[in-house]
Amino acid sequence: MSTPLPDLRTIPLKGKRVLIRVDWNVPINAQGVVTDDTRIRASLPTLTYVLQEGGIPTIITHLGRPEGKREPAFSLAPLVPLVESMLNREVFFVEHDPREDLLAIASKTAGQEGGLVLLENLRFHPEEEQGDAEFARMLAASCDVFVNEAFSASHRTHASITGIPQFAPVSVAGFAFKEEVIALTRVLETKEHPMVLVLGGAKIDTKIGVIERLIIPGDCFIMGGALANTFLEARGYNMCDSLVQRDKLDVAKKIMDGIRHDHDVLILPKDVVVGYSGDLPPKEVLVDTLCDGWSAFDIGTQTLAACERALRHAKIIVWNGPLGLCKEGTFTEGTRQVAEMIATSDAYSLVGGGDTLDALKQLDFDLNRFSHVSTAGGAMLEFLEQGTLPGVDALR
Ligand code: 3PG
Repeated sequence: MSTPLPDLRTIPLKGKRVLIRVDWNVPINAQGVVTDDTRIRASLPTLTYVLQEGGIPTIITHLGRPEGKREPAFSLAPLVPLVESMLNREVFFVEHDPREDLLAIASKTAGQEGGLVLLENLRFHPEEEQGDAEFARMLAASCDVFVNEAFSASHRTHASITGIPQFAPVSVAGFAFKEEVIALTRVLETKEHPMVLVLGGAKIDTKIGVIERLIIPGDCFIMGGALANTFLEARGYNMCDSLVQRDKLDVAKKIMDGIRHDHDVLILPKDVVVGYSGDLPPKEVLVDTLCDGWSAFDIGTQTLAACERALRHAKIIVWNGPLGLCKEGTFTEGTRQVAEMIATSDAYSLVGGGDTLDALKQLDFDLNRFSHVSTAGGAMLEFLEQGTLPGVDALR
């Protein structure tokens, strides 16, 4: 049993300067409109609670990967009106270097006026990603209480994640952070089996550890998306023009060698929906009949039937990564049907990953139909692999 996370509700907040690290790394389109506000919404209960309890919140977050430079495209300015309307409070946006006293002045003003401070993108400063201790100390000096409400960024050893708790007088987890830890720990410590792990998306690297750690005999993997193409090619199928991580074929082979009864345990697509580089319409084919010029973009009918059989008996389902190319809204059927199977199952279902949530949003799928929806991608996988994260350990 790990040490429980310190709880925000046990800390008196009245008149206290509360520094809240959120993960508002959200998509913003060319018109400056936030196209998915799920992560902002997830942090609202914590922000509202701090305001209600009379705390004076300063919000810090990163956005994108500006690589230590002040890049206007990664400014948090477009978030200000959105957050103001969500919280019905004034947001004091501090664009300056947080080393300047401006942060202190803004936080005082915000406190007097019942608003909150939002500090410009932390990653405009190289010190953030370097985990610089001085930078962390300076941020910590601006608060009485530090709240980490950025579970989805807590696999990073950045100044605002692992540094601040070393210097802040008190450091606690936000409500959504805590819920993520509870849900993922439940999966890791479950005695209920079979577990079905549904993995999609493109990249194999982030998923290897989870595959190795989670599955016990009798459990099951379902693989889709470009990830499955790499496994199919490693198994000897010619995936033609499909997206395949050819430098990872050995890794895929090794994983499959490690799965003893792979016929029962690993469901790879038997059939796929393919698209042609020219004008021909998409069609469904068996994986051993792919021809040059065609690429696999979604899982087919027979594969979906196999998914249904596996998911029907599941006690726990973990899903990360869309099962087809959902970005253009064309190859979403496999993802939609599997989402429906998971949502109607009696199993405890944990669904996460940025691309998965994007796909479900495109499909207008009601996320409340799953037991837990993680706003984390990399952090979710890393927690499932390691049983903790640097940002979680920093709070403990
Ligand atoms: C995420 O979107 O997964 C987190 O915000 C972390 O972002 P990063 O991968 O750029 O560190």
